[in-house]
Amino acid sequence: MDKYAVVGFPIGHSMSPAIHAQFAAQTEQDLSYSAIEVKPEVFDQALSDFFQSNGQGLNCTVPLKELAFEKADQLTERAQFSGAVNTLKLMEDGSLLGDNTDGIGLLTDLTDNLGLSLLNKRVLVLGAGGAARGILGPLLEAKPSMLYLANRTVAKAELMEQLFSPIGRIHACSYEGLAGKQFDLVINATSASLSGKLPPLADKLLASGAVCYDLAYSKKPTAFIEWANIQGAALSVDGLGMLVEQAAHAFYLWRGVMPDTELMLQQIRVAD
Ligand code: ATR
Repeated sequence: MDKYAVVGFPIGHSMSPAIHAQFAAQTEQDLSYSAIEVKPEVFDQALSDFFQSNGQGLNCTVPLKELAFEKADQLTERAQFSGAVNTLKLMEDGSLLGDNTDGIGLLTDLTDNLGLSLLNKRVLVLGAGGAARGILGPLLEAKPSMLYLANRTVAKAELMEQLFSPIGRIHACSYEGLAGKQFDLVINATSASLSGKLPPLADKLLASGAVCYDLAYSKKPTAFIEWANIQGAALSVDGLGMLVEQAAHAFYLWRGVMPDTELMLQQIRVAD
């Protein structure tokens, strides 16, 4: 049986095995998918062990995405821009293809599941770390009227502005620099939420009807989702939909079949 897995540290609470098991059952694909705890210092060894024992593909999560980028023999264009790989696929010639399905996962959740169009919308991304870098390319391709990138360390946002200039214009700025501006979509890509913190956000950043999206997800509302609700967001959502959609795109890369994510999302939300 073809073997797949997610690797990362920590990995105990990963939902990926349940998601991929459901995708496999639904599309009648004969495969196994497990979660393997791998620390960065043993990543090389874990990779060779896995692919030498019938492993066909891996999802890589925190803190291994940048290492997976280094290890891939070939990269998709979206992985190249994002500087990180969340999906590895063993190719027929034995080489490893690295892809990044995070950005397309977010876009699919925003457009297909939430029914939003980004065309001509004012979009703000908070944070300029690895998570932000993974989504900026697909966001620019969705042709918003403007894309602001705010970060505590402004130099990192400016680096992203330069890096993505072949795809489109990013306006790098500080949190203070956002004062007086308004946005239709605000995406939290900082890791602050996970520790219950928030970037210093001014009031009135949300335009009427604005949507707030936290890339992180948790059982109780994140600090950012709470902020969004207080600020009167028309809709505030966490990253569960993105998690399922990035998994679907990884599954498609591996198996050539696109699973039905609607069914999966219904089940996961009921179980939550
Ligand atoms: P990830 O892979 O989750 O993006 P990362 O690359 O370490 O992790 O990036 C973390 C991001 O969250 C950065 O944009 C960081 O801001 P700095 O670049 O200025 O460090 C942001 N971040 C983390 N904690 C934050 C906080 N309390 N307030 C504002 N931004 C925060």
